[in-house]
Amino acid sequence: MTKRFLEYQKNFNYPYTKRKVYERISRFLNFPTYSIRKYLAFQVIKRNQKLPSVSKKDGFLVWFPQEFDAVNQIIAESREYIANVDQSIFTKQGKGKEQYLRGIHPDKSRLTESLVKLACDPTLVSIVTKYIGILPIINGVKLLYSPNKKIYEGGAQFFHLDPEGIRQIKLYIHVEDVTEESGPLTLIPAKESQKIYQLYPGGRLTDEWVSRFIDPQYFYSITGASGTMIFADTSRCFHLGSRPGKNPRFVIILQYISPFAINFPWFGWVRKPLHAHLVNDNTSMIDQYLLGAQ
Ligand SMILES: [Fe+2]
Repeated sequence: MTKRFLEYQKNFNYPYTKRKVYERISRFLNFPTYSIRKYLAFQVIKRNQKLPSVSKKDGFLVWFPQEFDAVNQIIAESREYIANVDQSIFTKQGKGKEQYLRGIHPDKSRLTESLVKLACDPTLVSIVTKYIGILPIINGVKLLYSPNKKIYEGGAQFFHLDPEGIRQIKLYIHVEDVTEESGPLTLIPAKESQKIYQLYPGGRLTDEWVSRFIDPQYFYSITGASGTMIFADTSRCFHLGSRPGKNPRFVIILQYISPFAINFPWFGWVRKPLHAHLVNDNTSMIDQYLLGAQ
């Protein structure tokens, strides 16, 4: 049954209003946990009031802090990983999505643990929670490689919305500099994206189709030096990336979603916390919630 839910999720997921209804019911059914998460969110936001914020209007924020040790450290660790991993991962052809975008570290690696630790960083969590409105769940952490060699129809190289809920944050961190020639993330601010929610049938849209409703001047391609961070609500902002260019792209993605989002079958996340195995006796309460163990 659950498998079927996941299979049909794409159809179930659109139009956008269905996500809202689902999330409302899910919150209602999980009201005690919802209240605790709201309370924790309040605590988290209160701790760091001077941080930049993701505006509701834009649905994204680009941040390049001068000094952020945790980020510098993870960039160094990622570079080391890239230098020492079996290099055939960069030359192989790949199947499906892997042709243009591939994760290059196994889920149980030490790098994954470091990425999860970074995802729990109080500064990042504070910015994300303030935007999402509730203490989120870390749904995935990845170091991604885009070869940027060819365009493949029907994939994330074309405008789409991500299916996880009504609000989420995908935090992109540039490991190496990203220029127009390295298949940058390109997104349409939420306020503009909104114009086509009702028309969006799900799946991928051509640039030409989108241009009929949204002026291409709002197709923002986001470039930036190593260390640039992009907080992007990929559920509200149409986006694409990994288009062909002269250089490959290495980027970290940390994904935060609402525990009541539509991608958790049957109104709750407890059935599939992705990183709950990293919780131990010393894990703080906030981190336990972030990791989906609570
Ligand atoms: Fe996406």
